[in-house]
Amino acid sequence: MPDVHVSLADRSYDIVIGHGLLAGTSTRCRDWCGLAAPGSALVVTDSNLADSHAATVTAGFEADGWLLGRHVLEPGEPSKSLAAAEAMYDSLVALPADRGTLVVAVGGGVVGDAAGFVAATYARGIRFVQVPTTLLAQVDSSVGGKVAVNHPRAKNLVGAFHQPAGVLIDTATLETLPERDYRSGLAEVIKYGVILDVEFFGFLEDNVAGLIGRDQDVLGHVIARSCELKAVVVEQDERETTGVRAVLNYGHTFAHAHEALAGYGELLHGEAVSIGMRRWVGSTLRPLDANWRCSKRSGCR
Ligand SMILES: NC(=O)c1ccc[n+]([C@@H]2O[C@H](COP(=O)([O-])OP(=O)(O)OC[C@H]3O[C@@H](n4cnc5c(N)ncnc54)[C@H](O)[C@@H]3O)[C@@H](O)[C@H]2O)c1
Repeated sequence: MPDVHVSLADRSYDIVIGHGLLAGTSTRCRDWCGLAAPGSALVVTDSNLADSHAATVTAGFEADGWLLGRHVLEPGEPSKSLAAAEAMYDSLVALPADRGTLVVAVGGGVVGDAAGFVAATYARGIRFVQVPTTLLAQVDSSVGGKVAVNHPRAKNLVGAFHQPAGVLIDTATLETLPERDYRSGLAEVIKYGVILDVEFFGFLEDNVAGLIGRDQDVLGHVIARSCELKAVVVEQDERETTGVRAVLNYGHTFAHAHEALAGYGELLHGEAVSIGMRRWVGSTLRPLDANWRCSKRSGCR
């Protein structure tokens, strides 16, 4: 499966995609951080993954001799909170962490957003690596450097732009993902086809059975293309100042309102995005200027 590079000057990084990569996370991290010897790291995950995918990751770090801490969040949206962040700061202090310590987020978008927020703010910013394990996180939230926790009255209100040092996507992790979470991630995949790449949308239409069946070849292409499309947009508007990145918002304003009104955790993010995309299409707004072209890479319409 092709790797993707996100080109952002001194904040550039690689997205490595493959099957069965988790055990090698430690080696990748050393490479991405330019470490000749193992350093210190805090692996953040949630309790659904602590004994499975996150255990595979931590075993690799332990075998390599890192000074290692573990922090396990409760699964779900409520863990994107300042209270959960405070507990992660405590784990970093207990390690003890310094400015060279790495935060490794193993999990879905909740773990990635919350752990990334802690990495962005601890000691004025330390490095972090994303190891996304949901489809939504693999195609969207692990790429682009948006990290945040929620305010009770608004989603993602307290956050930062903090790019990861690298993203390691092991497509084998999707084999254990519950069906509802898997389908939630498909909403973000379809979003890319609608807003940026008509050929990709055609590929999705032609491969519905493979998508539903989690065919590894289909998934490899879908994840790589989604990451590539997001990378192109992020490279042109890293901090949402030029308006280009707003294209990714397609359906999300409605989605965030639905999530907040329903109470965080009631609707999955991708489910809310699905509703939002349908509402947007039905409104008088247009998701994309007809002349806007994502022209940096071939095949990107
Ligand atoms: N930062 C961004 O750019 C960005 C973009 C899109 C969404 N998000 C955020 O992402 C969050 C949603 O992420 P999500 O959909 O990944 O949800 P999630 O992180 O809550 O994960 C969904 C569930 O799947 C479980 N899980 C994760 N990986 C698993 C696996 N491989 N096998 C079995 N179970 C697994 C988790 O424990 C959890 O219960 C929202 O908070 C949303 O705001 C952020």
